Amino acid sequence: MEGALTARDRVGIQDFVLLDTHTSETAFLGNLKKRFSEDLIYTYIGTLLVSVNPYKELDIYSKKQMDIYMGVNFFELPPHIYALADNAYHTMMAEANNHFILISGESGAGKTEASKKILQYYAVSCPSTTLLDSVRDRMLVSNPVLEAFGNAKTLKNDNSSRFGKYMDIQFDIQGDAVGGHILSYLLEKSRVVHQNHGERNFHIFYQLVEGGEEDLLHQLGLESNCQHYSYLVQDECANVTSINDKNDWKTVRNALSVIDFDESDIQHLFGIIASVLHLGNVQFEADSKGYATLNKNTELRWVSTLLGINVQVLQEGLTYRKIEAKTDEVLSPFTVDHAIYARNALAKAIYGRTFTWLVNKINDSMENKEPSRKTVIGLLDIYGFEVFYVNSFEQFCINYCNEKLQQLFIQLTLKSEQEEYEAEGIGWEPVQFFNNKIICDLVEEKHRGIISVLDEECLRPGEATDFTFLEKLEEKMGSHPHFITHKLSDKKIRKTLDRGDFRLLHYAGEVTYGVVGFIDKNNDMLYRNIKYVSLLLWSIIHVYLTDKLLGDSTTDPRPSSLLGLTDILMSKEPWYVRCLKSNESKQPGRFDDVLVRHQVKYLGLMEHLRVRRAGFAYRRRYELFLQRYKPLCPATWPHWRGVAAEGVEVLVQHLGYLPDEYKMGRTKIFIRHPRTLFATEDAFEVCKHKLASRIQAQYKGYRQKGEFRRQKEAATKIETCWRGVQARKEKERRQWAVKVIKKFIKGYMTRGEAKTTDNSEYLAFVRQNYLNRLKDNLPKTVLDKISWLTPPPVLTEASAILRQLHMRVMVTRYVRGITAQQKAQLQLKGITSVIFKDKKDSYPQSVSQPFVDTRISEQDINMKILQIIRHERIKYSVPVVKYDRNGFKPRPRQLILTQTAAYVVDEAKIKQKEIHPSALHALEHGGDLVIQCDHLFEVLTKLSVVANKQSAINVVQGSISFQIQAGKEGIVDFSSGQESMVYKDKNGHLMVVSLRRLTKHIRTCGQHLYSAPV
Ligand SMILES: Nc1ncnc2c1ncn2[C@@H]1O[C@H](COP(=O)(O)OP(=O)(O)OP(=O)(O)O)[C@@H](O)[C@H]1O
Ligand SMILES: [Mg+2]
Repeated sequence: MEGALTARDRVGIQDFVLLDTHTSETAFLGNLKKRFSEDLIYTYIGTLLVSVNPYKELDIYSKKQMDIYMGVNFFELPPHIYALADNAYHTMMAEANNHFILISGESGAGKTEASKKILQYYAVSCPSTTLLDSVRDRMLVSNPVLEAFGNAKTLKNDNSSRFGKYMDIQFDIQGDAVGGHILSYLLEKSRVVHQNHGERNFHIFYQLVEGGEEDLLHQLGLESNCQHYSYLVQDECANVTSINDKNDWKTVRNALSVIDFDESDIQHLFGIIASVLHLGNVQFEADSKGYATLNKNTELRWVSTLLGINVQVLQEGLTYRKIEAKTDEVLSPFTVDHAIYARNALAKAIYGRTFTWLVNKINDSMENKEPSRKTVIGLLDIYGFEVFYVNSFEQFCINYCNEKLQQLFIQLTLKSEQEEYEAEGIGWEPVQFFNNKIICDLVEEKHRGIISVLDEECLRPGEATDFTFLEKLEEKMGSHPHFITHKLSDKKIRKTLDRGDFRLLHYAGEVTYGVVGFIDKNNDMLYRNIKYVSLLLWSIIHVYLTDKLLGDSTTDPRPSSLLGLTDILMSKEPWYVRCLKSNESKQPGRFDDVLVRHQVKYLGLMEHLRVRRAGFAYRRRYELFLQRYKPLCPATWPHWRGVAAEGVEVLVQHLGYLPDEYKMGRTKIFIRHPRTLFATEDAFEVCKHKLASRIQAQYKGYRQKGEFRRQKEAATKIETCWRGVQARKEKERRQWAVKVIKKFIKGYMTRGEAKTTDNSEYLAFVRQNYLNRLKDNLPKTVLDKISWLTPPPVLTEASAILRQLHMRVMVTRYVRGITAQQKAQLQLKGITSVIFKDKKDSYPQSVSQPFVDTRISEQDINMKILQIIRHERIKYSVPVVKYDRNGFKPRPRQLILTQTAAYVVDEAKIKQKEIHPSALHALEHGGDLVIQCDHLFEVLTKLSVVANKQSAINVVQGSISFQIQAGKEGIVDFSSGQESMVYKDKNGHLMVVSLRRLTKHIRTCGQHLYSAPV
């Protein structure tokens, strides 16, 4: 079928109309069984719902399930009683007309359960108000009350409805359930006085006796023991495990108060029920003449008290027949059998009328007195065809009723089919089906029908018996093809019939009725009330009738009037639920083929299917068909822009439908065979998955695009805002900058003036700026005297102070950092400076040359010399060249300075020349010494320190002369040349030549030489 169904939902076929072999009962049963095995108890035949009793609780009646079915098209979801209820409701709302749901089936098939489910569905799904809630509650609680009084345990059903029930629910124009009305019919009153083996009386008796409060029982003269009452113990099964009388009693008591029963009503109601029980215990005895007498009349007293009837009158009524002859009244005594009959008849009458009163009372409480327009959905819970081993007047009535309903169904269905074909402009094709009018006529025809014959027989003077009635029937119907009796049948059939039987060939099958009791039951005024099921039919249709049509509803409508009523019904839409029993033993999961086949037959399901399948198996509005299957054709997917009908034509051409397989109506396409639809549906299934992924992809793309667009918009917005913020900040900054720059310029212009508000900031800036720059550019050494940053005028003074401070800091840091050695060195350098600074050109280069402690290690000094001067500490030694004073012959020597003397020694032999301070002094006078050495500043400084005579050193330029001996003078000349050399010049002078490019050095050397003698 259509809609999103799961694999489980797809078990078998959900609508028998789509069963290819629709005439095969075996295929029909096979499908039912297949679905039943998966707990799929519902299947459609068009809009008829077939329900198979599962005999177990299924999880398909929850609120969630109800929600799923609310407002959903019939074919969109798996078959369900809710789908039917919902569609009836919505059609009623849309078309503002009346509907009824006919629920039929065998006893125990689940009719009452189905009607309860429908009622619950309406209670939950219809809109409601507080006021309406109370109506709804009353409707719901009326069920347990009616079931208590009208249901009983039978062999077929532990809670069998022993009355027919028609309930209508009234809806106002908004669709609110505003009222209800119940009609009961055919209450099985005989059950009050007699029950078959294994069956029980009506539940209420057991509930009262078992559950009734002690006080109540005491007031009613009852004992809390079912065994005490003969009407309750005949069947010997007062207790049944599936029934809890005590609990049910409480439910009923609560329900009674909900539906407006006050305490006195309740007292009276149970008083009457108790009176029936007491009546059952009334025993008669035969007197000597065989007439009935009442010896022990305690029970009778209770009956009289509870019913408020005089005991005497009651006793008389039970034991005498009153014969009215003209003006006289004659009392004729009863035999015991007659008395028992009368007692039972009274009990039945009391119970029957109480039941009617109860129903009326419930109706009063559910009645809606608003005059506003209302539409109705009726629920008819009715026995289906009943076929027992022995069938009597009751079965005759019920089966006739079913026959009539079938006629109605055929007429309605065919009519609606025909109308639809006409409306769609499709030619009507005659349908082969069994028209049961012939059977209905057989029963109801005026003067010739079975009912007329029965009436005549009852009313005619003379002794009328069941058998004279049968003879009359044989006389009148003798040749009717649907009527057979023992006498009228051939030999073969005769064997299957008793002499007192007649057999009707109903549309659903043949049923044999025993005539015994027909006259009696027809005569019985109590039966007359429900005679010919006219009331039953009236109950179905009363909602469609006006007083004009029906006249006084209490009158007994004759069958002829039903034809007119049927016409009215035909303009309405009925809904059908057919209930099937899955097995006789009430076991879950068991599917009894024979039993179900029998029911399928007698419920006329095959016949129903045949009518439904008369023409085309499937039809759907073009728009819906196109909407569903358009993905199957490229021309119609994703959109068909033209007329829907043309789109469908294109689609079915594309799918390859043969001309015979379908017809195009005005608004609908009609498909003849289910297989065509199934092929399309299968193709759709395959296509659906592909489509789903495409749609998913498209949708994802669409979502992403949307998301992207949104993000982009958001980004642009944020950007705009941010730019605004930035621009505003920039503006503020610029304004600030303008101010600052203005101030700066003003400050600059007035920087030389005294501190004012205008220039104070500028000056502060200048100060800070200078100090910051100064911080990074401070001189690194004490020698750096030039790199001090030039201060702005305002900081001249501070800069000078800072410079001084910085210098001090550097000096302090330097001083702290030098070692003792360095200190000594510096002291020596200081002395050198005093001696040579600005006196000798080569001095500045020498400053960086460090002085060493000594230039000759002790190992290189002659041992002998060391021995000689061992008492003196050697302070310094250096290799020198000594020039003889006389002749300037160069001789390499070592100059050794000790604490006390200076020695010029030969490396090999000791040629000591002690230079002692005193000796120095002597030398001044005694003769000069010409020595040349490489480390002039070092040697002379050390020498001056040792001699402590710094001022004695002279630095001279050009040439020097000295006295070699008295009167003889030596001269040393200094010049520069290509090569550094020292030699005796032709003029006898000692010539000291220094390198020209190293002029200074050579001259220095010369100066050395010259200095040496100092
Ligand atoms: N849909 C269902 N789900 C579960 N159990 C069910 C369902 N329908 C019926 N039954 C079972 O079957 C029993 C008989 O059902 P119900 O009383 O509705 O039968 P009925 O057709 O009204 O019989 P009768 O004609 O005797 O009144 C119920 O008590 C219940 O146990
Ligand atoms: Mg029932």
